[in-house]
Amino acid sequence: MTLFSPLAVRDVALPNRVGVSPMCMYSSTGGVAGDFHVAHLGRFALGGAGVVIAEATAVHPQGRISHFDSGLWSDEQVEGWRRVASLVSASGSVPGIQLSHAGRRGAVREPWYAGAPLVDADAAAGQAPWPLSAPSAIAAGPGHQIPAAMSIADIARSVQDWHDAAARAMAAGFRFIELHGAHGYLLHSFLSPVSNHRTDAYGGTAERRLRYPLEVIAAVRDAIGHGVPLSYRISTVDGADGGLDVDDTVQVARALAAAGVDIIDTSSGGITTDRSSDTRIRRGFAFHADFSRRIRHEVEVLTATVGFVVDPEQAAMLIERGDADLVLLGRQMLDDPNWTHHARLALGDTSHESWDVRFGSALGPRHRTLTRLQEAGETPLSRFRN
Ligand SMILES: Cc1cc2nc3c(=O)[nH]c(=O)nc-3n(C[C@H](O)[C@H](O)[C@H](O)COP(=O)(O)O)c2cc1C
Repeated sequence: MTLFSPLAVRDVALPNRVGVSPMCMYSSTGGVAGDFHVAHLGRFALGGAGVVIAEATAVHPQGRISHFDSGLWSDEQVEGWRRVASLVSASGSVPGIQLSHAGRRGAVREPWYAGAPLVDADAAAGQAPWPLSAPSAIAAGPGHQIPAAMSIADIARSVQDWHDAAARAMAAGFRFIELHGAHGYLLHSFLSPVSNHRTDAYGGTAERRLRYPLEVIAAVRDAIGHGVPLSYRISTVDGADGGLDVDDTVQVARALAAAGVDIIDTSSGGITTDRSSDTRIRRGFAFHADFSRRIRHEVEVLTATVGFVVDPEQAAMLIERGDADLVLLGRQMLDDPNWTHHARLALGDTSHESWDVRFGSALGPRHRTLTRLQEAGETPLSRFRN
């Protein structure tokens, strides 16, 4: 198995094992994906990625992180995403989207305003906070709103929201769905004992804390049909006192896979706003690969790894050594949207056949000329040296 072997999941074939990790861009008005999203996500598809997973997209307005999140809570939001999915497909990549509900971590500013919780005074700038909901009435951290504990009826309505958003994602042309079950958002907050203090059918034991995620998975599978891959991003470890660790997550992954999840996308952290969890989970190169490897070897499921994958050989080895089935890159892709093509080149495939023909037909001969000049000892600065 190599980085550039196709990956078939249900009825969908990813042309290679490089994916673009979902990244919120806080650039939507009314939850609508616009020209920015077409260009931003289209670049990665033209850049050769096997799957491009669009940012955390709210299934309900209450489940946004900020006022500028994208959404699929209404039919009016389908058309913008259709443009994105269409370009990604036409460029030979698989269009994916991450569906999300931020739960108690919602109603904050964008990261470049430090993700500060919205307060009533923000209403003057058109950014009023909105009421949050979560499994239990516990704030995500100091200064954050105390969410309302969801009633059984709220939970049932919420499951329907996921279903409807997933159906809209299908209508928009997406062929790969990821559920955001990590980073302290609603699904994760049901799973973790740190944020779920319920004593009813949705909390109290590991099995009951899993109930809401399993209901969401069933509803989403119903909406997307049998043929579409379903990925679930999980925080493999909470990195918080009393939180989930990797042994717990292996059990969870087993239940998710049995419920119809095809890929466990292994991330970590975020259950509270306490950043000390970041130091407990050391940010080294490929820092989630051990988690991915463990789940992949102990559970019958495909896994994705993410986090500081920056180098072609590193990514290739993560696949070849069996650490993951799919390697997701976030910030590296922002830095170089053509990373996948460049990785092929770095790993020895100089054919340029994977590029869109409009680019590849020009870049192939250019590469051969550059190689010839290099072999002749010429550099771009040669003419200035005499
Ligand atoms: C700008 C930005 C936005 C992000 N938004 C999301 C998101 O919408 N959903 C998610 O699961 N992770 C999100 N993440 C986390 C990334 O998907 C990824 O897991 C993380 O950046 C680590 O991978 P990297 O080192 O390749 O960037 C975001 C990260 C960045 C940098």
